[in-house]
Amino acid sequence: MTKDLDWENLGFSYIKTDYRFISRYKDGEWDEGELTTDNQLHISEGSTALHYGQQCFEGMKAYRTEDGSINLFRPYENASRMKKSCERLLMAVYPEDKFVEAVKKVVRANEEWVPPYGTGSSLYLRPYMIGVGDNIGIKSADEYIFSIFAMPVGSYFKGGMKPSNFVVSGYDRAAPKGTGAAKVGGNYAASLLPGKEAKSRSFSDAVYLDPETHTKIEEVGAANFFGITKDDVFVTPKSPSILPSITKYSLLWLAENRLNLDTLEGDVYISDIDQFKEAGACGTAAVIAPIGGLQVEDDFHVFYSETEVGPVTKRLYNELVGIQFGDIAAPEGWIEKV
Ligand SMILES: Cc1ncc(COP(=O)(O)O)c(C=O)c1O
Repeated sequence: MTKDLDWENLGFSYIKTDYRFISRYKDGEWDEGELTTDNQLHISEGSTALHYGQQCFEGMKAYRTEDGSINLFRPYENASRMKKSCERLLMAVYPEDKFVEAVKKVVRANEEWVPPYGTGSSLYLRPYMIGVGDNIGIKSADEYIFSIFAMPVGSYFKGGMKPSNFVVSGYDRAAPKGTGAAKVGGNYAASLLPGKEAKSRSFSDAVYLDPETHTKIEEVGAANFFGITKDDVFVTPKSPSILPSITKYSLLWLAENRLNLDTLEGDVYISDIDQFKEAGACGTAAVIAPIGGLQVEDDFHVFYSETEVGPVTKRLYNELVGIQFGDIAAPEGWIEKV
């Protein structure tokens, strides 16, 4: 049984589903955790998450397959990245195996909200952790809340993948040795203004350069960058201030092992973008958002086309989405059944 929703026309907005998982950390340990129907939190006004940004989160999806079962895509990678985010912000770590178990509990409890196969929609999962308790000094909290909620979301591109244009921002989203590699709210707060400015100029989002030299591409909005060179090398930036995208590392593997391309993770100089015949942004939400054109100061650079998706981008997209929805055989360990 599934809910009666217009599955094919879902966007990406908050929908209150039936159950969320919540666990509390106090006196040095996590409680068992429980599923609850209550979507409100009641926390101390002194919570470190409110004042000092001591919080982090994850984003992942559950996919309905043709046989009606439900796939999680590389959930241990999300668990491991959240552990790193917690360590960076001196927060308690939620055990990785329990993280995946809790994700499964939330999906099972909200099974009626998992979109039907063939609609392109999926169940988005948002694990997060916040520092709570009565504090006010700038120090790590003694108490934490870890929670996971879920909501059905639509396919990012209705009626097929389409390229869009982006603009190189003059702002930084993260500092050179700051928290760029951690999935923490402060990075996203810092990206709201550059994102708004990009959108007000009719671009999809801002492209961020490396915060130290401003010569190399780092991220595209809340997604990683990749390009396909004229001699068919899959290239993606490497930097300690980029969020390590699970989608990006999956595409890197697929480019090498399924598309037989050479791959390179390294510096991507903005002065060198005409080496790419195709480019895209990748992440859980969009899978791949093809980059049609990129505004770099006064120059507008078109990669493959402003209206058509390049052939390599299309193959990468089909391979990855096929694996996520169970239509194409997955590499060992990529799919976890709920
Ligand atoms: C800043 C940033 N970069 C990259 C990504 C893509 O990461 P992933 O592929 O793990 O979703 C995200 C989304 O989670 C993000 O917020």
